[in-house]
Amino acid sequence: MLKETSKQELIGDLQRRVQDKILEPTNFKLLKKLIEKADTLDEAIMIAELGTTYKRTGFHFDKRLEKMSSTIKYFKKNTQLSFTTDEKKMHHKLIIGDNYPALLNLLVEYKGAVDVIYIDPPYGKDSMGEFAETNYENAITRDNLLSMLYPRLLLAKKLLSDEGLIFCSIDDRNHAYVKGLFDEVFTEKCFINSFVWQKNSSGKTEKDKFTINTEYILLYAKTDRYTLHETYKELAQSSKDAYCKDDNDGRGKYATVSLQKPKNPGPETTYDYVDNSGKVWPCPPKGWRMVNKKIKALENDNRLYFEGDTLRVKDYWNERENPGKRIDTLWNDLPENSSASKELEKIFMERELFDNPKPTELIKRCFDIGPKNAIVLDFFAGSGTAGQAALELNNSDGGTREFILIQNNELTDKNPNGIAYDITTKRLKRVMTGSCYDGTNSFDWIKDHAPLGDNLEVYEIAEVANFEAAEGKTPFDVIDETLYGVDKFTTIQRKIEWVCDNFEVTQRQLEGN
Ligand SMILES: C[S@@+](CC[C@H](N)C(=O)[O-])C[C@H]1O[C@@H](n2cnc3c(N)ncnc32)[C@H](O)[C@@H]1O
Repeated sequence: MLKETSKQELIGDLQRRVQDKILEPTNFKLLKKLIEKADTLDEAIMIAELGTTYKRTGFHFDKRLEKMSSTIKYFKKNTQLSFTTDEKKMHHKLIIGDNYPALLNLLVEYKGAVDVIYIDPPYGKDSMGEFAETNYENAITRDNLLSMLYPRLLLAKKLLSDEGLIFCSIDDRNHAYVKGLFDEVFTEKCFINSFVWQKNSSGKTEKDKFTINTEYILLYAKTDRYTLHETYKELAQSSKDAYCKDDNDGRGKYATVSLQKPKNPGPETTYDYVDNSGKVWPCPPKGWRMVNKKIKALENDNRLYFEGDTLRVKDYWNERENPGKRIDTLWNDLPENSSASKELEKIFMERELFDNPKPTELIKRCFDIGPKNAIVLDFFAGSGTAGQAALELNNSDGGTREFILIQNNELTDKNPNGIAYDITTKRLKRVMTGSCYDGTNSFDWIKDHAPLGDNLEVYEIAEVANFEAAEGKTPFDVIDETLYGVDKFTTIQRKIEWVCDNFEVTQRQLEGN
């Protein structure tokens, strides 16, 4: 007689296939019934095999779980690095440390509240740096990038609001894989666009392949409830130059635009136009762009331009609703990589202090696509470009974007005290206040920019033993609830409840996802 445990094991295997969505629940029910009735093990195995005709194929990468730890990681304010310019103005955050525990901690206050995320992760293999290598041992099939990103994207998704957007810069080599990963986490339905940014115009000559001078920026939404803010790029010089005609009637300069319809001729727009002098303008092959009455109104308002045998309409510069052209997926109008290094040079008065910063204008373009009052997050903040981008955009469009940046204190040859201490904090201090931490202001950037203002809270990630008094400290003593948007608790009971709810649940249950 077949042992009950063997039957249950076979049924358990099939049940897992249902969870993995490779076996239909109805087929499972039937197979379960048959296995329960089977007389021999061979018979039960044969029945179970009927449920294994499908194999999952497609996009695979090795998922490396974050290490479980017996400590609780929490935010601790660094008062020396935090600064205020005006308490009443906005407070932004820089969190120094690994972004995994940092994102977990952010969930306490910002779950479902972040509007726009921009990330620029290290592009794997060639640029993961020592930090990533030691933390994420090389996965079997590819390098670490996907296994490192995957658990972080799951947390990022929880932080995003239902209308939220996430942008991710990525290079040529990784674009396809990272897009596959985003499809997995955010679903293909929520993919919006893949922008191509021209990062340099000449580029280094690559051996055995062509020069790479572009990078990608993926854009996904959390749900289909997103809206994209209409964003414009400056008109090309040749388009601006087209606004050169002037009738000296006070309306200013204009360009002329064709009135011929490019496709889909319709009965209403297929006619010969007779102008006010009686001249007949034969119908173009695909008709006119508007009905007869509209063209007549334009003529009566002196807005028609008669050129040879074509009829055009005047487009006045002063009447343009937007000075530019709506952006598309080709971003070749933005500053290139080299300009980002120059921006940093003006702030630090030293060359090549940080590898691969992004131009502020590139991240401004991403933030500009989101709402003006957004909470924006960059959890691979590097030199802190995203913080500067949010503030510059606020200053130019009156927005109230609040930024949260996360950057680990990775040590490099150029940054012996770590990137966060040597670069990120110092950059933000200089551009926000106009002076360095030591009170001096002898850097070039401030000569042609006003300080961007606002206040910065700098947090670090500290650890405490999990609910056991270690050296007299418990999580209830060391975790400061006011750093999580909560008023100070008046009773220890409330504090204990809050810590248990938010830290045990957030940090332990989410780990392992
Ligand atoms: C390509 S850079 C970002 C550059 C940034 N966009 C800028 O304009 O300066 C990626 C940064 O992520 C940091 N990083 C890598 N892994 C991290 C982690 N797990 N947590 C926090 N930061 C990390 C690296 O130190 C590096 O500075």
